[in-house]
Amino acid sequence: MAMTKPQVGLIGLGTMGAALALNIAEKGFPIAVWNRTASVTAEFHDGAGALAAQIVPTDTLAGLVAAMAPPRSIILMVPAGKPVDDMLAQLAKHLAPEDLVIDAGNANFHDTNRRTAQGLPFRFMGIGVSGGEAGARHGPAIMAGGTRQDWDRMAGVFRAIAAQADDGTPCADHMGEAGAGHFVKAVHNGIEYADMQMIAEVYGVMRDGLGLTAPQIAPILARWNEGVLRSYLVEISAAVAGAVDPVTGGPLLDMIVDAAGQKGTGRWTAIEAQNLGTPVPVIEAAVMARNVSSRRVERAAGEALYGPAPTRATLPVGDLEQALIAGKILCYAQGFTMMTAAADEFGWALDMPAIARVWRAGCIIRSAMLNDMAEALAQDPTRNLMLAPFFADLLRQTTPALRRVVAQGALHGLGLPALSAGLAWFDLMRTARGTANMIQGQRDYFGLHGFRRLDGLDHPHGPWASS
Ligand code: 6PG
Repeated sequence: MAMTKPQVGLIGLGTMGAALALNIAEKGFPIAVWNRTASVTAEFHDGAGALAAQIVPTDTLAGLVAAMAPPRSIILMVPAGKPVDDMLAQLAKHLAPEDLVIDAGNANFHDTNRRTAQGLPFRFMGIGVSGGEAGARHGPAIMAGGTRQDWDRMAGVFRAIAAQADDGTPCADHMGEAGAGHFVKAVHNGIEYADMQMIAEVYGVMRDGLGLTAPQIAPILARWNEGVLRSYLVEISAAVAGAVDPVTGGPLLDMIVDAAGQKGTGRWTAIEAQNLGTPVPVIEAAVMARNVSSRRVERAAGEALYGPAPTRATLPVGDLEQALIAGKILCYAQGFTMMTAAADEFGWALDMPAIARVWRAGCIIRSAMLNDMAEALAQDPTRNLMLAPFFADLLRQTTPALRRVVAQGALHGLGLPALSAGLAWFDLMRTARGTANMIQGQRDYFGLHGFRRLDGLDHPHGPWASS
């Protein structure tokens, strides 16, 4: 029996595109695919096994369009940036106004806003897809931007291919207009950087402060993964710590160069937070730490000059688990506050509990704690999570350990930028009388910027103004 002409298409059969195409085919949607290099398309189709019957391989862009039934919905899985603009320009020659192009790559949301506004001769939406290759193949989290109408058109496909939370809800939802989906994905990635960095920091305390080996650290992380910290990133960190190097037979982790790569999405979040004036210091610290990690020669020179650090610390391992719990809550509190500010700034109806729900499964930052965050945000969507009763209780229990860990880091030369940034933010946010009265005095002194008085008296400048 001939297959019905697909209405869904996909361009770009790299790792993520290929996995997503197989996922879509598997969920019963016929799909037409095209890749710039024809041999890649042929190999993909040959390797699709039983799913090949659902997949229409095509050799040209015109061929892709011709193989599909209108109105077409074409998913782009090409590298972010210029390749997307180039592809949109080419598609403009082939598509009809009711056809829809879906950019599923890690686009900068400003680009998605621009592309939405530029008047493309077809419909356009940008979606954030998280979960790596396995997620794309078996169930990613999907953060969709664009019009409600286009979301409604694609919701059936997106929900079918997405991961499901424990309660069976698909982790795919509409975030808001234009670049809202890619914005939420960028914040996801910023949090991803921060979660990873905080795990790396407590790993560092165990390795350098407590002198534990990777095989000793692995079961500790695995145990944490049974509790409040249950999450994909803690789970894989345990696996990474426990892996044996096939070459030396020793711990593989000890053979991996300590310089982290990055493609930029975490940095975008930090930059955007600065633009919005809403601090995400844990994410900023994580981006900073990745940048510092790549300066290996300078770091070695620093060690030669100042002597080796860190030195041995004294700390119960349980404190590290507590510190990680506190750091995680503080990081997410910052991330959700940032999204609330962005919703105001960009006019998006970002639904905070819905975002927490979408992140519960499929994506890289999936964790048990997101269930509790979704519940807390459902009660009060714009409340800073550190003020929500459930998390306030947890922070009261865990911040003393965070304090001890950060103090041990300072005393023993263990760099803990993300955990320290979380603690500093927490302390600022729980201090009613801060120190910016001094800043305001300074600003008025050198620039006559004025200040407000606590007693409300109208006296806009200090006595220095007249001198
Ligand atoms: C995801 C990830 C993914 C990201 C990689 C690499 O949600 O699936 O965020 O989109 O591209 O994790 O990111 P970096 O190279 O910046 O670490």
